Amino acid sequence: MLPIATPDHLSRVRYEIRGPLARRAHEMENAGQSVIKLNIGNPAMFGFATPDALRAAVAEHLPQSDGYCHQKGIGPAREAVAAAMRAKGVAGVDADDVFMGNGVSELILMTLEALLRPGDEVLLPAPDYPLWTAAVALTGATPVYYACTEERGFVPDPDEIDRLASPRCRAVVLINPNNPTGAVYPAAVVRAIAQVAERHGLVLMSDEIYDRILYDGATHEPAALH
Ligand SMILES: Cc1ncc(COP(=O)(O)O)c(C=O)c1O
Repeated sequence: MLPIATPDHLSRVRYEIRGPLARRAHEMENAGQSVIKLNIGNPAMFGFATPDALRAAVAEHLPQSDGYCHQKGIGPAREAVAAAMRAKGVAGVDADDVFMGNGVSELILMTLEALLRPGDEVLLPAPDYPLWTAAVALTGATPVYYACTEERGFVPDPDEIDRLASPRCRAVVLINPNNPTGAVYPAAVVRAIAQVAERHGLVLMSDEIYDRILYDGATHEPAALH
């Protein structure tokens, strides 16, 4: 069989859901060791099941779901997302503002492809959910990391983000609640980062996939409120 060479533009892409680290973790598990995986969020493993009403609605509507839907996604689903954002206090959102994807991953890849040119920079949290790093590298842009250290409760420092935002920087990514750390950022921090983004003309990309999976007592602050 002819060898299939990896194309050059993938040489900088690392995605530790299925790279060498994941392979090594697999080997360790096969050897009987227990491994805690901080590289992927998998809430279903911890009992966070799809609500019964959603399961039933999917099953009920399967017969009508052949063929393409609206290019932005199914209308009632976009309405529901817009209503959920309005319920959080985000004003002026309607279904036209909402794009559905096959999971968050697809939308991360598509939005970064649409935004970035080779040589651009994107500010990402360290540690990050690794798809963000991989997707930025895939476009030829460069990830620049702001620290989320244990000493600060894994909460980012808006002043550091301000210092790191170079003229080549196009976007700042928030992962809030964060995977892998579980940190939920205080409203003042979210507001300060939104202000930094505005000052530097950066797109603020807020990955809030875990907004309903919070530690007791934590309150989630949507970036869209700022
Ligand atoms: C922070 C974060 N964003 C995005 C994703 C990807 O989400 P999806 O499975 O919907 O593509 C994950 C999955 O683990 C995640 O943890």
